[in-house]
Amino acid sequence: MTEALATIFPPNRITRDAEDLDHWGSDRTTAYRAAPSAVVFPETLDEVVALVRLANARAFALVPSGGRTGLSGGAVAERGEVVVSFDRMNRILGFDPAERLVRCQAGVATGALQAFAEERGLFYPVDFAASGSSQIGGNIATNAGGIRVIRYGLTRDWIAGLTAVTGAGDVLRCNNGLVKNATGYDFRHLLIGSEGTLGLVVEADVRLANPPQPQRVMVLGCSAFDALMHVLGAFQQGVTLSAFEFFSDSALAKVRAARDLPPPLRDACPFYALLEFDESALDAASRAFERCLERSWVADGVLSQSDAQAARLWALREGISESLAPHTPYKNDLSVRLSDMPKFLEAADALISQAYPEFEVCWYGHIGDGNLHLNILKPSGWSEPEFRAHCHRVSPELFKLVAEYSGSISAEHGVGLLKREFLGYSRSPEEVALMRGLKRTFDPNGVMNPRKLIP
Ligand code: MLT
Ligand code: ZN
Repeated sequence: MTEALATIFPPNRITRDAEDLDHWGSDRTTAYRAAPSAVVFPETLDEVVALVRLANARAFALVPSGGRTGLSGGAVAERGEVVVSFDRMNRILGFDPAERLVRCQAGVATGALQAFAEERGLFYPVDFAASGSSQIGGNIATNAGGIRVIRYGLTRDWIAGLTAVTGAGDVLRCNNGLVKNATGYDFRHLLIGSEGTLGLVVEADVRLANPPQPQRVMVLGCSAFDALMHVLGAFQQGVTLSAFEFFSDSALAKVRAARDLPPPLRDACPFYALLEFDESALDAASRAFERCLERSWVADGVLSQSDAQAARLWALREGISESLAPHTPYKNDLSVRLSDMPKFLEAADALISQAYPEFEVCWYGHIGDGNLHLNILKPSGWSEPEFRAHCHRVSPELFKLVAEYSGSISAEHGVGLLKREFLGYSRSPEEVALMRGLKRTFDPNGVMNPRKLIP
């Protein structure tokens, strides 16, 4: 196969080196062992088309690889696939200030796009802890969310056009940056969130926003899980929230220990809410805080007095994922509608305490948009396979509960390899059958990221 790949790529853009295979064939999951047969680094759309056509002709599979920050195994190549890294397609191709549209190649890092916007007095609002290394193509493939969804929505909401190569090797130029386009099926939105199973996203037109006014950050200590939703309700009246995040005291302990950070409040609380909002809403936010104190939903709080302090408060939330990694967490990424959240939280908390009585459990996430991250930590005496098997047996009970609320078993991390067998808890048999049909239409020979997403 290397000879065939060499008809498209020069030697310095094909590797079979063991370390490289491991590096580009994995994401941030630890449950899988990377075993691709090669990694290639295209630089142009034509090379991507030639590669996909070769994969069809020679019957080998392709796995797209962006910043490899995924948490569901969507970019893992474990069966001799060829990994397609977009690291060398990292150029910004054009910018129109009147339209506020940037055309970028799929390998542009999210952080680089944010910096590009900032240099022009604009703002790319999709943001998350891994934005420094994640790439825009991967964000599109998983419809990345993150910390400001409550105000700005998901990656989907900022993609005005994209160019993709389907599994059949055809080039689709979707929507061309148009605002209005009422000409039938919008394949752009089908490709967004398809986890590389239908085609490879090569370029995108990304919309930018005006920057928000200066922001303030508050961390509030909450007495109980259900108080968080009351706090959200109180602040939604009169305060435009840019973020409403939460974390449990156990999650806080991990990030504080890992980064040697001081506690945000004098006394520990079971849960904390982190809010970000426009500075102009400070009076309304202070009134909401007083109301929360009176009702005992909140025990104490801290308000940022400078950008540096705001960043220190954010570190308590954004550093959690990394600080849990050494504990080999079993990750859940759930969502329900906000109106169902109080009842769901109560039921999920009871189920988790009963299913994992001896395990340390860390809750955190983007509760303001309905997204909860639930991480079960591996006890030191357990082997990783034994621990994973145990958690895997509990998952259906939790997912049944999610299904009762018509929620999602993967709010933002994607399905990948990790949740594939559980897709039926969030999508109906009719939907899964349609997914299979679409997969056959876009990728008749099954070369695009096989075994991901669809059970
Ligand atoms: C986060 O919200 O911190 C990210 O989704 C990563 C994670 O859940 O580990
Ligand atoms: Zn998250």
